[in-house]
Amino acid sequence: MKTYRVAILGCRGRGSAAARAYHAHPRTEIVGLCDLLEERSNTLGDELKVSARFSDLDEMIKQTSPDIVAIPTATELHYDLCMRVLEHGVNIEVEKPMCVDLDQADDVIAKAEEKGVQVAVHHQGRVGASMQAIAHAYNAGKIGNLRYIYGSGKGYYGGYGLMNIGTHMLNNMLHFGKRCKSVVAHLTTGGKPITPEDVAPSPSGMGTIAGEYITATMQYEGNVTGTLLQHRFNKMDTNAYTMELFGTEGRLFWKLGGAHFLPTPHYLPDGNNDKWESLELIYPEHYDSKSSASEMDYWFVEDYVNALDEGRPHVCSGYEGRHVIEMMMGIFESAAYGKRVNLPQADRTHPLLRWREESGLPPPADMPRGYGEWLTQESKRIG
Ligand SMILES: NC(=O)c1ccc[n+]([C@@H]2O[C@H](COP(=O)([O-])OP(=O)(O)OC[C@H]3O[C@@H](n4cnc5c(N)ncnc54)[C@H](O)[C@@H]3O)[C@@H](O)[C@H]2O)c1
Repeated sequence: MKTYRVAILGCRGRGSAAARAYHAHPRTEIVGLCDLLEERSNTLGDELKVSARFSDLDEMIKQTSPDIVAIPTATELHYDLCMRVLEHGVNIEVEKPMCVDLDQADDVIAKAEEKGVQVAVHHQGRVGASMQAIAHAYNAGKIGNLRYIYGSGKGYYGGYGLMNIGTHMLNNMLHFGKRCKSVVAHLTTGGKPITPEDVAPSPSGMGTIAGEYITATMQYEGNVTGTLLQHRFNKMDTNAYTMELFGTEGRLFWKLGGAHFLPTPHYLPDGNNDKWESLELIYPEHYDSKSSASEMDYWFVEDYVNALDEGRPHVCSGYEGRHVIEMMMGIFESAAYGKRVNLPQADRTHPLLRWREESGLPPPADMPRGYGEWLTQESKRIG
């Protein structure tokens, strides 16, 4: 069995998490670490005992010949770094969101296809232990036919929440909805439908956004619809970050680290009896819960190993990542233009920038990059 050689490009928070998972997995070996800041590759290298450390990514790839390069960097760098790494003809995984618009995502996919390599997007929730449990129950027919999927963020400002957290949730929902045919969305800022003046650069370099509150409806294949809520809360609440599948015979409830089954489609709590059953979470048999690797990142690596063995895309492939961006751009476009948006959309430019331009406005002015400062400035503007 082949051991896949992995190089990590970016050694801070997410790079360290990815590296721990690749380090722990028996079928992957970290052959190089790269960061512009030497102390970051040194800290991670010392932790994982990887001596090949670089500050130049091209040099790292030339010297270490990796099978996979992980690109866990700030979102505004994803496009350039993906294109640069793909030029070397290696498989990549990139943090979420894959890119900030569809033009970029199309280029990345086209470059990977030209080079004959895979793209995976680090939407690890879709392959983690609780999603495995949900998928197992779903595939066993426990809820009958799927009718509706509900998903929510955890309270960030809506447009930013969509790019940051909605990307995960839309990808989770796709696991069951398969393909999204169209999107209809309602976005409000300060209690009113968004206007071109509400379009702004995203915090954390996640492109262009709008909407304090987002309520979006997706039409999937067949008779399945879904709703995604990305509502700004006064206080963030990870308990809101949940997904629920409604079937003809029951319901399945996903949350980080938990999976539950309701053996009836409609249930009014009567105060005496909780019909929700906890499902046993599913881990790869060689996962050591005492290792420093998170189970979701480990599952993500496990699927990449299996995908490369089998010559198939990762479950969280670039194709899925791009489809998620189609949904996110469709959500912005639907609210801006007040219409249903059919996917995949022919116009791949950012719909909010198009909307502003057509309204005779210049591109939105710069905003602080940090979320706290960004929110303070936006809250002042909304009043
Ligand atoms: N999947 C998840 O659960 C999850 C959670 C949080 C954040 N994210 C995503 O992770 C990304 C941010 O990750 P982070 O917080 O670790 O990023 P970061 O910006 O803090 O760290 C990135 C590192 O990459 C290095 N780097 C940047 N360009 C480089 C280059 N050309 N060559 C070498 N090194 C380079 C930087 O010096 C830095 O150390 C975002 O896309 C975010 O959306 C994902």
